[in-house]
Parts: sequence; structure tokens; C-alpha cells
Amino acid sequence: MSTLRRFLPAPLLGLLLGSAQAATPSVSMSDPHSYANTQDFRTRALSLDLDVDFAAKVLRGHVELQLERVNPQARTLILDTRDLTIRAVQAGDDKRLKATGFTLAPRDAVLGQALSIQMPAQADRVRIEYSTQPQASGLQWLSPAQTAGGKQPYLFTQSQAIHARSWIPLQDTPQIRAPYRAHIKTPKNLRAVMSANNDPQSPRNGRYQFEMPQAIPSYLIALAVGDIEFRSTGPRTGVYAEPSVVAAAAKEFEDTEQMMQRCEAVFGPYRWGRYDLLILPPSFPYGGMENPRLTFASPTVIAGDKSLVSLVAHELAHSWSGNLVTNASWADFWLNEGFTNHLTYRIMEEVYGADIAQQERALGAVDLKKSLELADRDGDRTLAPDLKGRDPDDGVTDVPYDRGAFFLAYLEQRYTRPVFDAFLRGWFDSHAFQSVHTADFLGYLQTQLMAKYPDRVSMAKVDEWIHAPQMPADTPWPADAFAQLDAQRQAWLDGKLTLAQLDTANWNPRHWVYWLDTLPVLSVAQMQALDQAYGFSRSRNQIIAGHWWALAARSAYAPADAGIAQYLRDVGRMRLITPIYRALAQTPQGRARAQALFAQDKPRYHPIAQTAIESLLADKP
Ligand code: BES
Ligand code: ZN
Repeated sequence: MSTLRRFLPAPLLGLLLGSAQAATPSVSMSDPHSYANTQDFRTRALSLDLDVDFAAKVLRGHVELQLERVNPQARTLILDTRDLTIRAVQAGDDKRLKATGFTLAPRDAVLGQALSIQMPAQADRVRIEYSTQPQASGLQWLSPAQTAGGKQPYLFTQSQAIHARSWIPLQDTPQIRAPYRAHIKTPKNLRAVMSANNDPQSPRNGRYQFEMPQAIPSYLIALAVGDIEFRSTGPRTGVYAEPSVVAAAAKEFEDTEQMMQRCEAVFGPYRWGRYDLLILPPSFPYGGMENPRLTFASPTVIAGDKSLVSLVAHELAHSWSGNLVTNASWADFWLNEGFTNHLTYRIMEEVYGADIAQQERALGAVDLKKSLELADRDGDRTLAPDLKGRDPDDGVTDVPYDRGAFFLAYLEQRYTRPVFDAFLRGWFDSHAFQSVHTADFLGYLQTQLMAKYPDRVSMAKVDEWIHAPQMPADTPWPADAFAQLDAQRQAWLDGKLTLAQLDTANWNPRHWVYWLDTLPVLSVAQMQALDQAYGFSRSRNQIIAGHWWALAARSAYAPADAGIAQYLRDVGRMRLITPIYRALAQTPQGRARAQALFAQDKPRYHPIAQTAIESLLADKP
């Protein structure tokens, strides 16, 4: 059917297919995660008008799309939706909109439902009246008890990868970019913020207006509503958070302006105006999300000692890799995340020094090796996974992040840092506000570096980096960031060193995470000794705590049961809780316990985390 759709004018197609309306349209060739017929219409601007109804857990209102008619013959516009209730659709132009026909195709478990809209000749505008459903995959509605303040409810969106369609009917593919405007109506005592021009001075009166003038892909449209306050940390930086969190957040992230300046010096101007952070409640399923102008972040990154600010470096770096130059499909995800990890290491080195950056790389290497082991198909070990028919959230492993970053580190090593930095800056400048495939990058690499500096990197080598399931033999693994620690661990395990003799005076949280991650399954006595010596069970650093509980689960350490249960209840960040669930699920009793805990905690988790943990617990051990 995709071939037919490509070559036949829509009316003829309709004749051929009879009542084609009820059928599910095929997905696009270059983005298998969208039904949008982008060869016919492309969104030019988007305008949202939504009421936030906490009682019903529903967003209600309309969206207006302004379209470019790429194919003047086209008479059907196909949008992506998931679990939306469509009340009415109008089509027309800027002068007049008239009711038009539409149908929703049957629901696909991964992609949702295609919405086909009849478009009169010349119509380049549609208005869709709709509401969301309480189970929308991209929304989490929090009860007051799930917030820091405990008094007001909270709502936030998470659109990446393909969840924007669960709260806005649109062309939900990163190949389409559009500016947006929004009117958001909330209960009077709450504040709304978006990935747009937030104004902290605007009165809290339940009516908020936003504008995002730059063209962005749909996965970067974001909204949060709650008891949210603002504190400035610099001329173009600040933090939004609940009142009890905002001071600590401002202190923790006071270096953000400095990070921005270093990024700009290496990768070119920051093109988005302000860069603010929104600290979410602990059920936020990610560490961070690079929503433009307003990064969303998990409160687990507020450690009190800035030890987790690499997360801000990462989300900030997406202002170049991802938000400015965007992966055109989710199979090209490494162009977002591998680049961003590379930039993060570069910036961490600039701001905090080479040692810290090297430690970050070493932790990335540990994560990567684990992900390569866990992958259950060879394609998922490469930078070119086949995600057709799969949920793109399943492609989110450390492979695109760290294999991607090591590939760029390899290129940097071959071409030298000054040359490679300039190359990256050229890549961002020449592809700004565009969506790109892996082939686009390889073409650019070939003309800009491989042709200019022959004999440094072969095409076969590039191909190996992208397509071979094994890591290349000459991967630039970070050498000995934790060598002293490796030696001490072995000595302790061999009984040659007691914990009291361990030299941990200069360890930072990265050392502790590395230590916990690289320990084998331990005995009850060893676990007890560790906890007594270092108080992991009481750690206020949520990342260290998470890695400790994962080790406890791996070691089936019963005294940790209560602590694990509490952690899994309080924290919803997938990267921290899935290793604990996975470790528990290794034994039959542990699995039963994990299932019981999950049954209890599921309602507290974000829909995306619910799905991820459900499928993890369904996997065979
Ligand atoms: N864009 C990602 C988060 C994401 C990826 C959401 C795919 C949905 C689908 C974000 O930039 C990210 O990578 N977050 C990491 C932080 C990190 C590597 C420092 C996370 O949440 O763990
Ligand atoms: Zn990222």
C-alpha cells in the first residue's frame, strides 16, 4: 500500500481501495514509527489550546496545524495519535475553517492510531478538537502525595520517543520540525511551563501563553504544571522547582552558565535564548530530558555536592546534538545520544578537568559492556539497529550512547582534537535545524575529514563502527581512571586487605558507583561489612544508593529488603530502578518479590516506566 500511496493521486487511490478510510495507513519509508504522509503535507506551525483538568486527568482543547502542501493532489492528511478522543475536525485556510470528515484506524500497540482527515483542494490548515485519556503514555498525573510539597497535584509530559501523539494529534516524526504557540489553562494556584519562552514574572492566574519560535521536532514539545517556583542562577539560566526544592537546585546547578560558555566556545553559539532547568518530582522516568529552553530533570541529580552535574552538561549539549541537528528516525538515535555523550565528556573536561572526564568515560565503558551483554540480538549491539515494528523506547540502551561516543572519540584520536572539534562545529552549523540520517553524517565525514586527511581512517573501519556487533579492537577504552580502585577491590576480595585499610580518601561519587558496579555477588558478611564501613543504606546520594540496592538485590542480601522496597517506591527513574528489578528477577523467589513490589508500586510509576518494567519482569530469567 505504501507504493500505491506514493504513485497514485489520492482520489484514484480512494477509488481503488474502496472505503480505504478504515484501513490502517502504512508507515513512512524513512521513519517506521510514524503514519504521517510527509510526502504530501508538512507541518509548518502548530498552535495548541488546552485545559488541564486534574480531576478527570484529561487535557481538553484543540490543536491547529498549518501545513505546507508538498503534493497539491493529496486529499488526505494522516496524523499520528494514541488514545485520543477526537471530537471534531475542521479544514480550510487562514480565512475560513469548515467541518471535514475524518477516521481513526484501528489501534496498533506500538504506533497508536492513524487519524485520516479529508482535505479539500487548497486547504492548508486543520483544527482538531480533542481530549486525552487518563492513561496517555506521554503524561503523568501525580497526586499531591507524589510531590515534594504534598499539597498540589502535578502534571508533566514526556514526548520522546513517540509519546507526543498521546497528547497532541500531529505528524509525530523527528523529520518534521515546526515552531509552536500554546495557551494553557490550569487551576489558578498552579504554574505551567513549557519547552518555550517561559516568563517567571507572569502572574499565577491559571492562564499561560507560550511561544517556541524555533522549528523543533514533535518529541521536544513539553509541558509541566504544578506548584512551581523560579530562581535565577545567571543572566540566561535558572531553575524551576517546587518551593521546597528550588534553593537546593539553584545551588547545585549554579555552574550552568559556565558550561554554556564552554560549549559555545567549542561548538558554536547557543541558539535558543534562555537555558532553564525544571526539577520534577521523583517519579520522572529519566535522569534528564533535553526539552529546548527548559531541560526536565530528575531530583535524583541534586546530590548536594555537584557530583551529578554531568547530567546538565549532557542535556545542555543536546542544544547542539539533538535539538539543533536532529536524528531523522529512531534508528539514527546515536546521532543524538552518542554525539551528546561525546560533547558531555568534552565539556566536563573543560569545566572540571581531565580526571573527572576520564572517570565519566570509564563509567560509560562499564555501562556499555553490560548493555552489549544484555542485548538479545546482534543488531542491537550496533549503531544501526532495526527498530521496525518495535517500540523505539526499546532501542534506548547504552549502545547508542557509549558506542556512539567511543566512535567519535576514536575519530578525534585519529584526526586530533582541534581538527575534530572544528569538524563537529561545522557539522552543527551546516545542518542546523535539520533532521539527519546516519548516512548524512557518514557522507559529511567522508568529504570533510576522510578525503582531506587520507589514510587515517578507512571506510571499512567506519563500517565496522556502525555495523559490527563487536566493538572494534582499537576502541579507545579509557585506560586506568580507576586502576587504584581495581587493585584494591581485588585485594579486598582475596582477603589481603580489610575495608579499614582501603584508601578511599580521594574517592568521589563516581568511584563509589564504579566500586559498587564492579563487585561480584557478595556474601552476607561482606555486604554487612561494606554497609557498616560506608553507610550505603543511608546514602543521600540517590545514584550511589541505587547502585547499592542493585548490588544488594544481586547478592540476595535479605537485610536490604526494606530499603529496596522503599527505594522502588520513592524513585521512578528507570535507569536506577530497572537494574534492581532485573537483579531481583534472577532467582524464582526474587522474581516473585519483584512482581509483588511492582504490583504495589506500579500506579506511582510513569506509564513509560510501567511498560518497561512489565516487559522486563515478563522476560525469561
Ligand atoms: N533524551 C534522553 C532521554 C530519553 C531518551 C527519553 C530516549 C526518551 C527516549 C536524555 O537526554 C538522556 O539521555 N537522559 C539520560 C541522562 C544521561 C545519559 C546523563 C538519562 O535519563 O539517564
Ligand atoms: Zn541524551
